[in-house]
Amino acid sequence: MPETPAARAAKPTFYVTTPIYYVNDVPHIGHAYTTIIADTLARYKKMAGAEVFFLTGTDEHGQKIEKAAAEKGTTPKALADAVVGRAQGLWKALEIDYNFFIRTTMDFHEKGVQKLFARLLEKGDIYKGEYKGWYCVSDENFLAEDVSADAHGHKCCPDCGKKSVVVSEETYFFRLSAYQEKLLDLYAARPDFVRPASRMNEVESFVRGGLKDLSITRTTVKWGVPVPGDPAHTIYVWFDALHNYVTGIGYDWNMGQLEKFWPAVHLVGKDILRFHAIFWPAFLMAGGFEPPRCVFGHGWWLKDEAKMSKSKGNVLDPYVILDAVGPDPLRYFLMREIPIGLDGNFSHEGFLHRVNSDLANDLGNLVHRTLTMVRSYFGGKIDELGEVSEADDRIRTAFEEMKERALAHYEEFAINRALEEIWAYVSLVNKYLADNEPWKLAKDPARRGRLGRVLRQAAAAIRGVAVLVAPVMPGSAQKIWELLGEEGSIHKTRFAGFDFEALAPGATMKAPQPLFPRVDVKEFLAEEAAPQPKTTEGTMDYLSYEEFAKMDLRVAHVLKAERVEGAKKLLKLQIDVGTDKRQIVAGVAETYTPESLEGKKIIVIVNLKPAVIRGVESNGMLLAAVVADKAVIPFIEGDVPAGTKVK
Ligand code: MSP
Repeated sequence: MPETPAARAAKPTFYVTTPIYYVNDVPHIGHAYTTIIADTLARYKKMAGAEVFFLTGTDEHGQKIEKAAAEKGTTPKALADAVVGRAQGLWKALEIDYNFFIRTTMDFHEKGVQKLFARLLEKGDIYKGEYKGWYCVSDENFLAEDVSADAHGHKCCPDCGKKSVVVSEETYFFRLSAYQEKLLDLYAARPDFVRPASRMNEVESFVRGGLKDLSITRTTVKWGVPVPGDPAHTIYVWFDALHNYVTGIGYDWNMGQLEKFWPAVHLVGKDILRFHAIFWPAFLMAGGFEPPRCVFGHGWWLKDEAKMSKSKGNVLDPYVILDAVGPDPLRYFLMREIPIGLDGNFSHEGFLHRVNSDLANDLGNLVHRTLTMVRSYFGGKIDELGEVSEADDRIRTAFEEMKERALAHYEEFAINRALEEIWAYVSLVNKYLADNEPWKLAKDPARRGRLGRVLRQAAAAIRGVAVLVAPVMPGSAQKIWELLGEEGSIHKTRFAGFDFEALAPGATMKAPQPLFPRVDVKEFLAEEAAPQPKTTEGTMDYLSYEEFAKMDLRVAHVLKAERVEGAKKLLKLQIDVGTDKRQIVAGVAETYTPESLEGKKIIVIVNLKPAVIRGVESNGMLLAAVVADKAVIPFIEGDVPAGTKVK
């Protein structure tokens, strides 16, 4: 049953998954993290020669979504459609190259889940009974029995802290208790089934503590896959969702593909490790599938020391960073900053420091300097190559050694360590240039061969670095590749046959372009604090008229305007909106002086949730066009009273 190393070696395929994300809210940096890890590993594996399948998607059923839709005054399906558009738009902006995006509302998935349910029912792994217990609506999970009650006899969810409710219902159970020994055997046979190792211990001791049968249907939830033959019950969202990993790759519609790629490597946050490392392999064994290749539990991104989550209100919108610096710096930072498995605290200062020092200074400068010199001394094409010195040789052998270490780290999912190795090498190449002083060699025509050799060696090193960072920074790596005169896609390069010396012979290197522009920390932070327009490009995120009509747009008279201290772009406005006078903060200080706005009539969304921006309260938002980062306000001319509705 467990996959042997020999079987693994004989199967040069790699199947990687992310959790499927709930559609009760749009994805944030925490979700982007898992997806970027999966994308990096998928790209790495392709370049390592494997055939890869990368699955991601959305988890669209269950009480959580039913509730969120009701609160938003829409249907679960409409909510899911809108969020799917946003998620796919974000993955595109982050250059995520998945093979398939599964939605659990897809017909073939629902049918596949029903078929598997029926199979287990027939086998006796699922049976009907009665369940009474404490249930957390927010996490869609029954509480473990050892969770103690508070002074009033209430139990709170140990994961989210919210009050749970007592639920009693007829339900179908999955015979999890029958899988306790089989799971323990699996863990014993495959100590790396759960990674990192510390999490394996956690999972194993939970299973040793005893497994009870699991309630896997609900009569209280309408928005779910109906139990085949008993439609008063819907299938519990986790039973439904976990099976995406087999339906998404072919169960019941492309069995050849499923067989070719299964078992999968599952990347999951530590909060959902038990579902994946205990329930899921048990479901799989019951269904006659092999268990996953491995379940990797990663840590959380924290903001202000708390897990970034919608319910805590501390999520970061990835578009703020994407709009400012593009995808690669964010991908690099998330992959470099922490080992997969540990938590990391996200600070914008930390982010910008890394972008400026590792990307702009170290790699960006190396590429820039080298290309500038190749351009100005050789017109882009090195036409004379002197003898190879010991230092030149060292740059090549150091690359080969570093490459072996970096690839070994990638193979172990230690992406941060692979990047550390690559950056140590970038420093070495920078030092090589400093030591060999090509700018001095250029002054002596007799040393032209030596000059050519030094620059070529630096360019070859850069080319090697680009190949090794390609899984993490796909766009920048491609750009460097092309600047060096290479053609085609860098992603088609295979690490195994990669030749340091094979730098496009005779190709013309291009003039340098800024790869990673330095970011002004202060300016960026002020920008980040200003209300951000959300990019919806690439999505199908239509608003219904009802949704539009919820926006209360009014003509407001500007009574007073002043600058917000320490924020170059912000103004604080006192406005009259007809029903009341209030304060808003607007990112318009680069185009308007405070005085020029006083007495003007503007359009304001008055029912926007109040926010505190740079410590200043804002009760609404003015409308403006943003042209090359500068706001242009549409003023209302003529005698229009404050509070007039804009439709
Ligand atoms: N729908 C379930 C997963 C079902 S998989 C069969 C779910 N969805 S989720 O949207 O709530 O979370 C998806 C993933 O995002 C989880 O792995 C979770 O750990 C991860 N993250 C959510 N917030 C996070 C951070 N702040 N940091 C890192 N990862 C985080 O759970």
